[in-house]
Amino acid sequence: MSVKIAPSILSADFGKLYDEIDMINRSEADWFHVDVMDGVFVPNISFGFPVMKPLKSHAQKTLDVHLMIVDPDRYTQTFAEAGANILTVHYEACTHLHRSLANIRNHGMKAGVALNPHTPVNVLQDVLDMCDLVCIMSVNPGFGGQSFIEQTYKKVSTLKEMIVAGGHSTLIEIDGGVTLKNAQALQNAGANVLVAGNTVFGAADPIATIAELKSITA
Ligand code: DX5
Ligand code: ZN
Repeated sequence: MSVKIAPSILSADFGKLYDEIDMINRSEADWFHVDVMDGVFVPNISFGFPVMKPLKSHAQKTLDVHLMIVDPDRYTQTFAEAGANILTVHYEACTHLHRSLANIRNHGMKAGVALNPHTPVNVLQDVLDMCDLVCIMSVNPGFGGQSFIEQTYKKVSTLKEMIVAGGHSTLIEIDGGVTLKNAQALQNAGANVLVAGNTVFGAADPIATIAELKSITA
C-alpha cells in the first residue's frame, strides 16, 4: 500500500493560510498534519484553536493533529469540536496514557501516540491495541526544518514487528526531517505515513514535490 503524505502546516506561510490550505487540497497529499505546541512541553509556541478554525472550514482532507503540550487530556473535547480527525498525544506528556487514548476514541477521533527520539517503542506494548497511529519523532519536537535522526529506522522496524506480532492495524507515522531522499527507505522500514514540512513548503513547487513523494513511495 502506498504511503500517506501529511504536509505539516507549521511550515506554511500563515500570511496566506487559505492559499496554502487550498494548495494541499489540490495536491496528492493525504492528510493535513497540524502541530500544536505550548512552549512548555517543547521550546516553541505554534498555534491553537484560531488556526483550527480555517482548517476545519476549508481543509478537505483528514486533520491529523499532533499535540506537543503538557496535560493534553484537558483539550480532548475541544479538539474534537474543532474538527480533529486524529488526535496524537505524547507518551512523555501522559501519566495515564491508557485513559488518554480511550478518551480520544470516546470523542469520536482516532487515537495517536507520539514518541520522542529517546523513548523506545516497547513502552507501547500494552496499549498498542488502543493506538490507531504511532508517531515516531525523527527529530526532537519543537521546530520544522531539522535533520533526520538515523536511529529512527531501527525504531520503525521494531515497532512494525510489534504491530504484526500483535495483529494490530496501527499506522506508523514518521515526523521530522523527511525528504525526497529518505522517503523510500522509511517506507521499506515499515512507515505508513510521512509528515513533511520543510520538504513541501520549502520547495519551489510544493504540489510537484508532494507528487514526487507519492510516486517514490507508490
Ligand atoms: C516538529 C513537528 C513536525 C515538523 C516537521 O516538532 O512535529 O511535524 O513540523 O517539519 P520538517 O518536515 O520540516 O522536519
Ligand atoms: Zn508533528
